[in-house]
Amino acid sequence: MGKLEVVLTESEIREKIDELAARINRDYAGKELLVVGILRGAFIFMADLVRRLEVPVVVDFVAVSSYGDATVSSGIVRIIKDMDESVAGRHVLLVEDIIDSGLTLKYLYDYLKARGPASLRVCTLLDKPDRRQVDFQSDYNGFTIPDYFVVGFGLDYKQFYRNLPAVCVLHPGKEDEEACLQGPGRRNL
Ligand code: IMP
Ligand code: MG
Repeated sequence: MGKLEVVLTESEIREKIDELAARINRDYAGKELLVVGILRGAFIFMADLVRRLEVPVVVDFVAVSSYGDATVSSGIVRIIKDMDESVAGRHVLLVEDIIDSGLTLKYLYDYLKARGPASLRVCTLLDKPDRRQVDFQSDYNGFTIPDYFVVGFGLDYKQFYRNLPAVCVLHPGKEDEEACLQGPGRRNL
């Protein structure tokens, strides 16, 4: 039997994003920032983060696929949608929902670095260091979590649950499969 269990509440997440934004505001004072979200998982985190930024901000997105619909990385990163903005000479902040193996961020970091940004840093809501396959660190990370599969606040399981307002651990099972088929609800939250 599967179930969803809240691990980070809305207010914990809100406070953490306040802290991250305050650090970013300090570090980039007097500069313009190009904030690049990695679709689809980063969309909620990034929307909350940029609304707290006080420096001039331009937003852009890249979409990648590294997992298919599995909960385990295939290790293959594909760019599905590239950026519209140019990176050269700009201060770029790459925003991602979670670092797991590190493969996605390592790939995108190297990819953007090669385009000559003035600076390049990474901001993540969650980090699962236990699962790292390549050496990669986030410059601004919200929460370090154990090796759980989590959903909500932008993170999905088979594209569902992104709309949950809290971060929940998903213990997949028949019940969740059925809930997915009926549409993402808040059962067991
Ligand atoms: P990495 O390339 O293994 O670091 O994986 C990063 C991507 O995997 C993230 O952008 C997420 O989309 C996905 N991912 C990793 N862990 C989880 C999780 O616990 N829940 C949902 N998605 C995850
Ligand atoms: Mg993702």
